[in-house]
Amino acid sequence: MKILVTGGTGYIGSHTCVELINRGYEVVIFDNLYNSKEEVLSRIEKITGTRPLFYKADLRDTESMRPVFEDHKFDAVIHFAGLKAVGESVEKPLMYYENNISGTIKLCKFMNEYGCKRIIFSSSATVYGDPAQIPITEECPKGTCTNPYGWTKSMLEQVLTDIQHADPEWSVVLLRYFNPIGAHESGLLGESPNGIPNNLMPYIMKVAVGELPELGVFGNDYDTPDGTGVRDYIHVVDLARGHVNAVEKVTTTNEVNVYNLGTGNGYSVLDIVKTFEEVNNIRIPYQIKPRRAGDIATCYADPAKAKKELDWEAEYDLKRMCEDSWRFASQNF
Ligand code: NAD
Ligand code: UFG
Repeated sequence: MKILVTGGTGYIGSHTCVELINRGYEVVIFDNLYNSKEEVLSRIEKITGTRPLFYKADLRDTESMRPVFEDHKFDAVIHFAGLKAVGESVEKPLMYYENNISGTIKLCKFMNEYGCKRIIFSSSATVYGDPAQIPITEECPKGTCTNPYGWTKSMLEQVLTDIQHADPEWSVVLLRYFNPIGAHESGLLGESPNGIPNNLMPYIMKVAVGELPELGVFGNDYDTPDGTGVRDYIHVVDLARGHVNAVEKVTTTNEVNVYNLGTGNGYSVLDIVKTFEEVNNIRIPYQIKPRRAGDIATCYADPAKAKKELDWEAEYDLKRMCEDSWRFASQNF
């Protein structure tokens, strides 16, 4: 089976390509390299022995996309390409709506035109807003997003659902990720954030390599065991394996299916700091700062539906996530 992976040189996309190739799928990537490097292809080849076919193409640019669909007949598309910086999306909403929403609509038009109507979409737990229940099941109603990035995910879920309802030949899997961290055990693939990171683990890694002096912990007065925010951190390789299982689903059904991809465990900011320090023997100085606007106290998944219907569950624990994150950072930052 041949799978098109949009955004395949990015953090989650590159790990998913490795798992797809390991399971015998043929992989074609397109990416505009806005937030990733072509060198990732050699690294995927080093790990798997196979270099995926690559197109430098932009979701918003018909001319660069056309050859991708002219040259191949895809069994399914895994759609990672998009912009993901929450803070930037507040400052540049048009850029986010154009890239993520217009770009995805263009992609779907191509898929229609070339007769590939199966898509797995990277959504996010952010669509639950301040969740109505913990742990969060897929039945939990979608909520109010606190930034344009989150709205692009919520809106695109609706767009893809409407497309499937209008044309039942479509098959749509919406994967709502919780908090992906970690890296490939080889140290060859991982997340390399540009500038000052927004997210916790990339920030900790910048402190660990000495690029930033200390971590700011955003609030210690939440209603959580130690007062700091609680999240469901999931190893990126587990997340990648979830996509491979979703390929089977998307190619054998004609409906819309939604799955949470999380571990079901909630860890606080200080749990992450302590575990990172212990397993890697590095001190992470931190200071308590005011709450960050838009943050919620607690967010973790009920991953039972993915286990039942995708035969998937996360395997790696927090210790492993911290070890692998640090191996990548220490070799690549
Ligand atoms: P990433 O930035 O590493 O990867 C995204 C890739 O898409 C990049 O390589 C970028 O160059 C490419 N891209 C962006 N706009 C493009 C365009 N117009 N045309 C072609 N390529 C384009 O991000 P990631 O962490 O791997 O995230 C992958 C997907 O998962 C994104 O859609 C993101 O919103 C979603 N997601 C990520 C997280 C997270 O915490 N990392 C959480 C929930 C959902
Ligand atoms: N945090 C800090 N200091 C930092 C960064 C984060 O204390 O420098 C705290 C936050 O307040 C939060 C926790 O660490 O309690 C996790 O924050 P992240 O920014 O790493 O992750 P979020 O849960 O805020 O958001 C992430 C992605 C979103 C995605 C969401 C749900 O950034 O894109 O997970 O999937 F929508």
